Amino acid sequence: MKILVTGASGMLGKALVPCLESRGHSVRGMPREQLDVTNYMQVNDLLRLESPELVIHSAAYTRVDQAESEPDLAYLINGYGTENISVVCNHLNVPMLYLSTDYVFDGEQDRPYQPWDTTRPLSVYGKSKLAGERAVRHHLSRFYIVRTSWLYGPDGSNFVETILNMTAQRKQLRVVSDQWGTPTCTLTLSETIADLIATGRWGVYHATDGGVTNWWEFARAITEGKGVEVTPIATKDMPRPATRPKYSVLDKTTLVQTIAREMVPWQEALESYLNLRLQEQLT
Ligand SMILES: NC(=O)c1ccc[n+]([C@@H]2O[C@H](COP(=O)([O-])OP(=O)(O)OC[C@H]3O[C@@H](n4cnc5c(N)ncnc54)[C@H](OP(=O)(O)O)[C@@H]3O)[C@@H](O)[C@H]2O)c1
Repeated sequence: MKILVTGASGMLGKALVPCLESRGHSVRGMPREQLDVTNYMQVNDLLRLESPELVIHSAAYTRVDQAESEPDLAYLINGYGTENISVVCNHLNVPMLYLSTDYVFDGEQDRPYQPWDTTRPLSVYGKSKLAGERAVRHHLSRFYIVRTSWLYGPDGSNFVETILNMTAQRKQLRVVSDQWGTPTCTLTLSETIADLIATGRWGVYHATDGGVTNWWEFARAITEGKGVEVTPIATKDMPRPATRPKYSVLDKTTLVQTIAREMVPWQEALESYLNLRLQEQLT
């Protein structure tokens, strides 16, 4: 397929473009400099020029805490920008895959969230991403909405890199242990997206690595064998501008049914990522 990827210089974009190419797709990765999704004329002209068979919309405003103090910008990029892509895809009859987030849920549930569960985002970021989901649903009939969570991967600023940088400076860390979810590596998510787009089975999907954990357990796994003491703390003891869901585990049953394979457990994905990171440091 001829695929256009927005936000190609973002963390997911950097993993996704080579993954899709390795599956034989012809991929046009568009960084923000080439395609600003808030510029309707540019979106219109570029999609007409490129005439892709699928658009994967990974570009987003992703600064969760900062969004609380600049909501207009978050909505402009995640809401209006996504609507621009959706409207043009509709005009051109091109299907679209939109990346969304577990933060569209409020985290008050005591079981994993299904794609059809009621959304109630707690933060500006979550609300703006939900606005994007609504634009996709409104303008298109052929779409995938892929909600993922706790992303980390090569060439991005993320929790794994933050924890590893901190361990280089200190031997004691404090990490919240009362927010539950699933870490997801951009490398495994890219493989999942590649599998999903091969199906043509449109819809809303939950796509994370397998299993459930909290940030404290995740930090302990990242720092294993490094002689670092990681102390669990409560969210209330580390206040941040944006409220996060307490429990945002996503149920992946419909995804597993569609692509006919299980998700990689988060521990396994993390181990592969840390090994890859180590190899790259050695070379
Ligand atoms: N990271 C997570 O934990 C997480 C979790 C769930 C869902 N997601 C979703 O997954 C997708 C990929 O996330 P990510 O972690 O790869 O985020 P990222 O690293 O922040 O990448 C997003 C990219 O979008 C670009 N962008 C921002 N505004 C733009 C605009 N107006 N026009 C075009 N491009 C623009 C950014 O460029 P600049 O760097 O120049 O701003 C950046 O390259 C996003 O849709 C995000 O909402 C992420």
